[in-house]
Amino acid sequence: MTRMVMSMVMLCILAATVIAEDLYVYYTWNILYGTIFSLGVPEEVILINNQFSGPEINCSSNNNIIVNVFNNIDEPLLFTWHGIQLRKNSWQDGTPGTMCPIQLGTNFTYKFQVKDQIGIYFYFPIIGLQRVAGGTGGLRVFGRLLIPISYPGSILLTFLST
Ligand SMILES: *[C@@H]1O[C@H](CO)[C@@H](O)[C@H](O)[C@H]1NC(C)=O
Ligand SMILES: *[C@@H]1O[C@H](CO)[C@@H](O)[C@H](O)[C@H]1NC(C)=O
Repeated sequence: MTRMVMSMVMLCILAATVIAEDLYVYYTWNILYGTIFSLGVPEEVILINNQFSGPEINCSSNNNIIVNVFNNIDEPLLFTWHGIQLRKNSWQDGTPGTMCPIQLGTNFTYKFQVKDQIGIYFYFPIIGLQRVAGGTGGLRVFGRLLIPISYPGSILLTFLST
């Protein structure tokens, strides 16, 4: 009886896992100029949400990353996600030519999925020499804690092994 209950619970867990959508990770970035004193003298830099370097994107394999970027500097802006294979939206790698820059005073939402690239990466603004003025930050991709088995045989195996 207990085994029967256990099996039913396992079945529910598996069913829930199979239909679950990959997680979404949301960020809103406000891009501004600001002054920092990293070497003791004032320097104008590009800040993201008043941070230099920019906020870390922390995610796990298969997460959908949504970054809504508000360009409040006086130049067009494009971000690139260095080394990341942008699943679902490969044209959003920010290369001038594959996408238009974010115009002054407007916003654009990057949407992509990270997949099986466990490791540490970074992003930066790609136009001109903006990259040396800041706007860069880390992008960390963790492995998933659980890899759902999504074929019907797995349910049968659960029954047989209990
Ligand atoms: C980043 O994500 C990992 C895995 O999900 C988590 O363990 C860690 O606490 C997170 N770190 C931050 C700073 O959010
Ligand atoms: C701009 O930001 C607004 C408010 O967050 C959002 O609803 C809209 O979708 C964004 N526009 C683009 C093009 O990403």
